[in-house]
Amino acid sequence: MLKRLNLKRLYAVKAKTLDNIQKAFCLTKADLQNIIRSFHAEMERGLSGKISRLRMIPTYVARPTGNERGKFIALDLGGTNFRILALKLRGNGRTLPPHVMKFALQKRQITGTGDDLFDFIAGCIKAFMKRQNIQLFEECELGFTFSFPVRQTALASGQLVCWTKGFSAKGVVGKDVVGLLRRALIKRALRNVKIIALTNDTVGTLVAGSYSDRRCDVGVIIGTGTNACYPEKASKIRKMPANPIGNREIIINIEWGNFNNLKKTRYDKLLDASSHNPREQILEKMVSGMYLGEITRLVLADLEKQGILFSTPCSIPGSRLAFRTEHMSAIESDEAPHFYATLRILRGLGVRYSLPDDRKLVSEVCRAVSKRAARISAAAITAVVLKMDAGLKKAHVIAIDGSVYEKHPTFKDDMKEAFQELTGEKASRIRMVLTKDGSGKGAAIIAAVAYASQEAK
Ligand code: GLC
Repeated sequence: MLKRLNLKRLYAVKAKTLDNIQKAFCLTKADLQNIIRSFHAEMERGLSGKISRLRMIPTYVARPTGNERGKFIALDLGGTNFRILALKLRGNGRTLPPHVMKFALQKRQITGTGDDLFDFIAGCIKAFMKRQNIQLFEECELGFTFSFPVRQTALASGQLVCWTKGFSAKGVVGKDVVGLLRRALIKRALRNVKIIALTNDTVGTLVAGSYSDRRCDVGVIIGTGTNACYPEKASKIRKMPANPIGNREIIINIEWGNFNNLKKTRYDKLLDASSHNPREQILEKMVSGMYLGEITRLVLADLEKQGILFSTPCSIPGSRLAFRTEHMSAIESDEAPHFYATLRILRGLGVRYSLPDDRKLVSEVCRAVSKRAARISAAAITAVVLKMDAGLKKAHVIAIDGSVYEKHPTFKDDMKEAFQELTGEKASRIRMVLTKDGSGKGAAIIAAVAYASQEAK
């Protein structure tokens, strides 16, 4: 009898604790509307050169016409893997499938010196040229996607403002990253590679999306990091005093990962305090693949400490980042009542014994964390769309890429549900299109635009 009573109590405590967690991670419609309001204020501040959490970086790039042609090379660096690709543009919004080579960065390049990083990349470019049979006397134009906050000073130059996503290579912050890459290419005798455009992955994604669809006007990444860009009328970018392109559009790299006006749980605060960049990139820490697993792990470790999860002695891995966002996707796709996939994942992480009930709780925690991420992303996209079109009078195509958006089982639907809450029946005017590998393709397209304008001069 006593045992039964205790069990009953434990279930009640479990239910109450889960309820509290769900409440802490829940964002109501009013919360999302607040995010949009605050986003608009920060966007305005950023555009007018005032201090803002949103850097609103002008990129010197406009959307392509779709008629650009030729073969261009792109280097796409923004995470631990990077890619080099050759893309042939055929005009009429069409491209041939790109030739791609992927490379993995080691810790030495990510956290060593800038020379380690750029020398390694130049070596990889050399290997790519060899594979592509491009001779050293053949000139080739390269678009460089560098997906970190860069203060762009011209189409092909810009200084790194700060590293994000765990990078910390020394001697790069404040330097022109194109200059650093150029120097490394020269060391490898690759003088024939001309870096003619520098861009961000969101800009590449928007450009790749709009090469084939003119209605495309937002580029979004929800992967290891998160960010977005959109075309702004040059006249509204008040911080650009000498406006070189009149009233045409310039794509603005928002760097939305740094948005901060969000309700934080104590787990967010813990994660932020132990991160390499405390108080920075708060939205990114609630949304992107680099952090979602870790937030979940912090909640689970807390539940275990409270005696609510895993009744036999075992432990949610204590080491940071052991529980990954990919695990969440698998757990949230798992099936009741046994949750066997979750069982396997937990075993792999050293939790040898768990009850189906424990696994259900793990799955519900994952759900609370990922749903919040999807709703924040949807509110941010809505803010960008409404900034361009306050009455949501026309259709907007959002070119979007990134592992979280692509692979998480409910992320897209959670986002759509939030669009619906925020804009009612006009939600159908916000259409997201997965633009796979747009960041690389877009860099090649931007190189094509830059090349055409050089030729025209
Ligand atoms: C980080 C970078 C940003 C990039 C995003 C997605 O937030 O600062 O430049 O676009 O990750 O990769």
